[in-house]
Amino acid sequence: MHEEKLKKLYELKNLAESGGGKERIEAQHSKGKLTARERIDLLVDEGSFIELDKYVTHRGDDPETQKFYGDGVITGFGSINGRKIFVFAYDFTVLGGSLGEMASKKIVKIMDRAIKVGAPLIGIIDSGGARIQEGVMSLDGYGDIFYRNTTASGIIPQITASIGPCAGGAVYSPAMTDFVIMVENIGQMFVTGPEVVKEVLSEDVSFEELGGTSTHATKSGVAHMVAANEYECMEKIKKLITFLPQNNLQEPPSLETNDDPNRLDPSLIDMLPENPYQPYDIKSIITSIIDDKEFFEIHETFASNIIVGFARMGGKTVGIVSNQPMFLAGVLDIDSSNKAARFIRFCDSFNIPIITLVDTPGYLPGSDQEQNGIIRHGSKLLYAYCEATVPKITCIIGKAYGGAYIAMGSKNLKTDINFAWPTAEIAVLGPEAAITIIHRRELKSSLDAKTIKKKLADEFRKKFANPYIAAEKGIIDQVIDPMETRTMIIGALNSLSGKREIGPWKKHGNINL
Ligand code: HXC
Repeated sequence: MHEEKLKKLYELKNLAESGGGKERIEAQHSKGKLTARERIDLLVDEGSFIELDKYVTHRGDDPETQKFYGDGVITGFGSINGRKIFVFAYDFTVLGGSLGEMASKKIVKIMDRAIKVGAPLIGIIDSGGARIQEGVMSLDGYGDIFYRNTTASGIIPQITASIGPCAGGAVYSPAMTDFVIMVENIGQMFVTGPEVVKEVLSEDVSFEELGGTSTHATKSGVAHMVAANEYECMEKIKKLITFLPQNNLQEPPSLETNDDPNRLDPSLIDMLPENPYQPYDIKSIITSIIDDKEFFEIHETFASNIIVGFARMGGKTVGIVSNQPMFLAGVLDIDSSNKAARFIRFCDSFNIPIITLVDTPGYLPGSDQEQNGIIRHGSKLLYAYCEATVPKITCIIGKAYGGAYIAMGSKNLKTDINFAWPTAEIAVLGPEAAITIIHRRELKSSLDAKTIKKKLADEFRKKFANPYIAAEKGIIDQVIDPMETRTMIIGALNSLSGKREIGPWKKHGNINL
């Protein structure tokens, strides 16, 4: 009796699911890109996706703009490894995935729902930005989305996959999310494309140079991760989610592990070179102390002089922040301060304890850093550590000099437990720099300044650059044998479960952006 009605439903469903049509889908595939629906299928558990607003069409004023069901974005909810998530994916086959009024309403609808129920939100972006034909209504739509990005920030994890050109408004919304993953050779993010750049600035620049992974994963820091292809991109999102809670009111999920929390690693001490000026890869120390050597690094190729990422210790998610002596000797500079501060703020928002490993000679001096604002950016790291109320544990492994000692989770920033290896060097300045200042006159008048400087520096190192002065004052809670780092940190973490720290009420702080 209702056959006709059902028939119509399936006709419309097929039409909606064919996006911009066979030819445009073929064009999408020929560029080595999947369609929006194929992407969602790859991301979510099989059969779990429930789409909303499939039959929405644009209601712009331009009669020449073709109407497509879905209006260029697919929205809905599903699950990833059984955990509820909300997702939207721009459909490039429909008007270049451009965003008009109705498409924005679809996105806003699921953003509001994700915030209300407290579930992660994933955006898959492949879009020409604001839909030109819809003028101010597309700008209006972006405004609504940016507002939700801000509301959602710190309430639910927001993750973006950039898989295609992402222009104009299609980059500002991702920038406000917590993590951006770009697919190599496909993801391109720019405020305006190369044609406009050429017109306005007479600058010739390729899509890749302007907004590819080489720019955003290494120089600008817009991209937190890079995937070789779309399959790897979805796998990375799924993996990332395993470390995160659904929302800010939950703890991150624990994962059973066979890695003994009391496992000792006697080889740890030898991972630190005897010569404090010899670079080494601190990642081997990180992987040794975490569960199952499984480290999920964020911003791997951006500001590599600091390392941030997720791991588990005793089955529980932790955020690792560590200097990396392998790059620029592990100094703190503008980019590394921004990178670590943002990561710390994410961890703090989502109840993820912060483990800090320290081996840094200090903040990078020089006119380039000063002119570009090391004071403003470098102090963000201080702010982020001070503001964070999650359990904070620091272990000083090597150098911890001056402002960098304070910034890297020192006791005064209300870090809960501070360990140091016997190799820690805590001082106001590194021995050579300190000697040059406090023995200036002596060195100036000496005939063999080099030898004297070395002798004085060695004496200084022995006398001042060690962990025991800080330990005597209780600023370091314990000097530990490196081999027991894992067990000490897990013990500290357990002792801090249930930590509560409530400061005086304020609307929000004014971080020095
Ligand atoms: C409407 C658009 C569109 C847009 C692309 N299309 N961008 N339609 N509005 N913004 C349509 C094209 O007309 C075409 O339609 C289809 O999408 C595919 O586009 P192509 O150009 O053929 O594809 P490609 O060569 O791959 O180039 C993709 C692109 C380019 C790099 C995204 O289209 C482009 O530069 N678009 C404009 C980008 C831009 O400047 N957007 C406005 C940003 S301003 P057919 O019918 O042929 O399939 C903005 C303001 C918000 O977003 C700011 C908030 C702060």
